[in-house]
Amino acid sequence: MTHIRSFVRRCRCLTPAQQHVLDTLWPLFGVENDQEVLDLNALFGREAKKKMEIGFGRGDALVTMAKTHPEHDYLGIDVYRPGTNHLLKEIKAAQLTNVRVLCADAVDVLQYRLPEHCLDAIYLFFPDPWPKRHHHKRRLVQPEFVQLIATRIKSGGCFHLATDWQNYAEQMLQVLEAAPEFINCVKEGKFAPRPSARPLTKFEQRGRRLGHDIRDLLYRRE
Ligand SMILES: C[S@@+](CC[C@H](N)C(=O)[O-])C[C@H]1O[C@@H](n2cnc3c(N)ncnc32)[C@H](O)[C@@H]1O
Repeated sequence: MTHIRSFVRRCRCLTPAQQHVLDTLWPLFGVENDQEVLDLNALFGREAKKKMEIGFGRGDALVTMAKTHPEHDYLGIDVYRPGTNHLLKEIKAAQLTNVRVLCADAVDVLQYRLPEHCLDAIYLFFPDPWPKRHHHKRRLVQPEFVQLIATRIKSGGCFHLATDWQNYAEQMLQVLEAAPEFINCVKEGKFAPRPSARPLTKFEQRGRRLGHDIRDLLYRRE
């Protein structure tokens, strides 16, 4: 099934130093972008809670969460190559063994690479807001996307979203409230207070500098 992409491929070549990082660290932490359905316990070499961040950017939140919870495993998904390189360096520097990285469209990963109900949590922090009205169709959070998310989270698992874009926050709330598979962890129709456990990222800092309100949404899979 084809879908509207939520990103534009930026053809930025890697510098020789970035290429070196990729060549040495990708074999340790990278997951090939092929057609195989992933066995997450085999991928991490253990049974543990499995959590996934969609659009990790430079990986700031992913690395902080993985450091804070060495008992959980984290799969990061993004299409942004230089960000992936930065994340690989951070994983190595922090000697983390509980992070794996997949460079691909999250919609394809959810649809084709993950078994049903395999994840304990999915994080979507500061997805591209696509502010112009005629670009709203590119936003990730749409009813079909949320339905797909629901098929991959375990019962009782968590879907945590954050954005600094008011109009997108309202769209997220509307879509999630209408999804029968999800229950608002706070109260029907309400945003969540910022959980202290959510790491601060560059995009949140930028949003704050611009005077944007930061909105969190916390949902539990039925
Ligand atoms: C605005 S940035 C936010 C990055 C990070 N979450 C943060 O808070 O700093 C959005 C990220 O989502 C990624 N992205 C957008 N659409 C995606 C998709 N369909 N699959 C995977 N990553 C995607 C972009 O490449 C970008 O790195």
